[in-house]
Amino acid sequence: MLFDVRPKEYRKDLYDREKEIEMIKDSIQRKTWIVVLGMKRVGKTSIVNVSVNETNSIVLNLNLMRIYNPKKSNYPRSSFINLFLESINSAIKKYTLGGKVLRVVSNVLGIDESSFIDFNAVKIRAGLKKFRNEDIGFLTREMDELAKDNGKNLVIIFDEAQELAKVNGINFSSVFHDIYDYCKNTTIIFTGSMIGILEKVLKNIEYEKPFFGRYIRRIYLERFDREASKDFLVKGFDEEGVKVSDEVLEDALNKFDGVPGWLTFFGSEYSFSLKHNKAIKVDDIVKMAMKEVKEEAKNFILSTQSKERYSATILALERLGGKGELKQITKVASSILGEDVPEPRIYEILNRLLDYGFIEKQAEEYSLLKDLPNKVGVVEAASELLSS
Ligand SMILES: Nc1ncnc2c1ncn2[C@@H]1O[C@H](COP(=O)(O)OP(=O)(O)O)[C@@H](O)[C@H]1O
Ligand SMILES: [Mg+2]
Repeated sequence: MLFDVRPKEYRKDLYDREKEIEMIKDSIQRKTWIVVLGMKRVGKTSIVNVSVNETNSIVLNLNLMRIYNPKKSNYPRSSFINLFLESINSAIKKYTLGGKVLRVVSNVLGIDESSFIDFNAVKIRAGLKKFRNEDIGFLTREMDELAKDNGKNLVIIFDEAQELAKVNGINFSSVFHDIYDYCKNTTIIFTGSMIGILEKVLKNIEYEKPFFGRYIRRIYLERFDREASKDFLVKGFDEEGVKVSDEVLEDALNKFDGVPGWLTFFGSEYSFSLKHNKAIKVDDIVKMAMKEVKEEAKNFILSTQSKERYSATILALERLGGKGELKQITKVASSILGEDVPEPRIYEILNRLLDYGFIEKQAEEYSLLKDLPNKVGVVEAASELLSS
């Protein structure tokens, strides 16, 4: 179903994205590492899932959002290792791998095989103390070989990979170089919403030997354009068997600006209310979506050094009609705060907001995002924090 709000797994539930899926599948075939970049809720996880499911691969799926915590600037090494081990555990179950890999991983942890299969938290935690960073590469090599022996590729997905930068005590460049060198049957797929941050992580990998000069292929996922958005909604409502007026469709298209996640959420909620005779307006759904963004933006602003200056910068953009250049933004932000904030400081703040995907930039102009949930969510977070 197009309006299923979870990340999609199969092409029948996915709208379009044929081109991107072919690129990902092609990269897996050639073992070219790739990174899928795009704003939150644009469909990165979905297209990666759908693509790998159409190749003959064993998949280790590491969803970094599982350890994500906006209030923490660092994650302990163990939380990453745990995620890695969980991905092996799921793969063993999903592909009924057992045998050697199970023996090896239990050995590394010094626990018995059934405790690993059951993912016994107490025993795993004890075993983590024995787990060395080299074991990440070691276990990946085992998986790589196993996949090869079965005539399959190994694909490792690092979903929302910018979070790797916050993991303590692991040198990821060295881990990735190890995998690149020894696991010839493996493709790594990174995804990231915080494009600026992820690019910094990738640079560390790309600019060092043995990777040097090789490129991790970038795939940028864009919002749907207006025509595609409309087609998506029409097909989705058709599938749900409900009739929606043109007025409502146009209203939704204006407010959600082609963000697939919002369109899906809207489609799902609107269909549900029509089927169950509950009155709902497009704006009710905008509000729900906006709340989500507001929470995200608040958490981010609170994690910075200066919630006042970040908030004032966002509010300045709003007062300037949603967009402006550095000079103007500095002026308005300064007047909001009643102090002269140095331009380089506002420049820094704008770039961080940009890195985290809360605003956009075109040429010299910074702007709020155009979809209402993102735009209003960010602004409301800023005004609440500034008045508190
Ligand atoms: N092309 C698409 N067709 C159908 N639904 C989509 C599509 N792209 C995204 N979605 C839906 O949008 C939401 C966000 O997708 P997701 O893959 O989680 O995005 P991301 O990983 O970029 O944050 C999910 O509800 C997903 O089902
Ligand atoms: Mg995702």
